[in-house]
Amino acid sequence: MSRAPVFASAAMRELMAQALRVAAARSPVLLEGESGCGKDLLARYLHEHGERAAGPFVTLHCPSLSAELAESELFGHEKGAFTDARMAKPGRLEAAEGGTLYLDQVQDLEPTLQAKLLRVVEERRFERLGGTRTLSLDARIIASANVDLRQAVATGRFREDLFHRLAVVPLRLPPLRERREDVLPLALCFLDDLRGRGRTAARGFADDALVLLRGYSWPGNVRELRAAVERAVLYADGETIGAAALPGTLLEQPQTLWAGQSSRPTLKQLEQAYIRYVLQAEGGSQTRAAAVLGISRKALWEKRRRYGLDTGPADKEQ
Ligand SMILES: Nc1ncnc2c1ncn2[C@@H]1O[C@H](COP(=O)(O)OP(=O)(O)O)[C@@H](O)[C@H]1O
Ligand SMILES: [Mg+2]
Repeated sequence: MSRAPVFASAAMRELMAQALRVAAARSPVLLEGESGCGKDLLARYLHEHGERAAGPFVTLHCPSLSAELAESELFGHEKGAFTDARMAKPGRLEAAEGGTLYLDQVQDLEPTLQAKLLRVVEERRFERLGGTRTLSLDARIIASANVDLRQAVATGRFREDLFHRLAVVPLRLPPLRERREDVLPLALCFLDDLRGRGRTAARGFADDALVLLRGYSWPGNVRELRAAVERAVLYADGETIGAAALPGTLLEQPQTLWAGQSSRPTLKQLEQAYIRYVLQAEGGSQTRAAAVLGISRKALWEKRRRYGLDTGPADKEQ
């Protein structure tokens, strides 16, 4: 059994409750959401919580299916169906019998294949290439799309009839930036994994790291978060991961600086956050930080005192 999705946000709680209900049904499910937000994981979860859990889970990665190869890949072929067909071979549709057929990134399915798939989904019947026997499709269908499939229909890139067949139950996974409450539980779960495999001794994140993790917009969603944690353990020593071990991209994104505030920051707040960031990026050196900020060391010291930014023994002068 693969791992269950980790979440804490209200949005995900609602979605997962819905997913559990849907898992028990037979209707096709369409998972929509940006790349990296957990569609593959949710597809497996649906499979494992459905009545076909004991059956196979077969993934069809649609972007890598060329129109020529796909047909025999999908439908299988009989002996002699084409020059190289020395033996009969079952296709992916047959392989999924009794289980789930997962059409990953279905938005990239070639138009000719969209037509062929429509028939299969509609009639639940198909033939191997060169075959006369009609086989029946006995698999749950789950599709995923990382673009708005309805939009793809509107612009003529995706068949409307196929869309309606696949999207009987649409489930939309929100991007990570719309459910920031999930960031920390996810990061801790990835950290636990790494510790369990002996790759780190770290057990948690320091406050400055938490600010960055929560504030960053995560354009690559959970996949990017996972990679960030994997990278962080390489740079961190001890039990706590600090901001300095996180990828620079987290620091370079201005929004990260005023994370967690309900309104836009004032200039003062921004100045304070930026000073903190530069000090940190410069390893605590007042001299280098002052140079980056374009002010004197004395002015920097004044500002730190005014903003209550630690001017004590944590300073590292070089
Ligand atoms: N809720 C979650 N809990 C735990 N891991 C997750 C969660 N969502 C995504 N992941 C992990 O993030 C990575 C990307 O997820 P994936 O399902 O492949 O995304 P997608 O198919 O939407 O691109 C995978 O390693 C997956 O295990
Ligand atoms: Mg995927």
